Amino acid sequence: MSEEIIPHWMLTRGPSKSFKVWSAACSTGEEPYTIAMVLQDASARYGFDYRIVGSDISTKALQKAVDAIYKESAISVISMEMRKRYFLRGKDKTFPRVRIIPSLRSKVQFKRLNLMDNIFETDPAFDLIFCRNLLIYFDRTTQEAVLRKLAAKLRLGGYLFIGHSESIYSMNLPLRQIRPTIFQRE
Ligand SMILES: C[S@@+](CC[C@H](N)C(=O)[O-])C[C@H]1O[C@@H](n2cnc3c(N)ncnc32)[C@H](O)[C@@H]1O
Repeated sequence: MSEEIIPHWMLTRGPSKSFKVWSAACSTGEEPYTIAMVLQDASARYGFDYRIVGSDISTKALQKAVDAIYKESAISVISMEMRKRYFLRGKDKTFPRVRIIPSLRSKVQFKRLNLMDNIFETDPAFDLIFCRNLLIYFDRTTQEAVLRKLAAKLRLGGYLFIGHSESIYSMNLPLRQIRPTIFQRE
């Protein structure tokens, strides 16, 4: 996303457009906030705006996502530089917690959404959709139906990311594979 998709998007669309991302089974928010950190860094460099929608079927998970409070151990994979920029530390030394900073939280809008529903209300033209580690729960026919609905919400040339243990092999979808788990809308 940061090395190829965003630089290419900047060249073809320019900074006046807002970059729109949907994290379609966002669980407790780690995925959309991580995307927000990457986009915030890129927007400081290129000067574009962005917005992210995080959705999930679970209201309990979504409440945690809105709270944006995580165990400090959960962010050990994030660089120290990014941790300083994007997290506030709690005062409790026994159960160390961190919280995403308000300005980054404000970039992510959460909503409850069941991807099995026939119609779901979202923006029709996302630049990127993440649907990672959800398809594994569905049978092949349902996977294809869900992916067809997601593909319809991508702008032409937009990208879909799926999980590393998932595949869309032999499905009839308007998506071109560009990496093992990255597809482009055509
Ligand atoms: C394993 S988590 C994936 C979280 C994140 N995408 C990741 O890869 O880390 C799967 C999520 O899918 C959500 N989910 C399951 N069925 C769903 C459905 N029909 N519509 C929307 N979300 C669903 C679950 O609530 C759960 O939060």
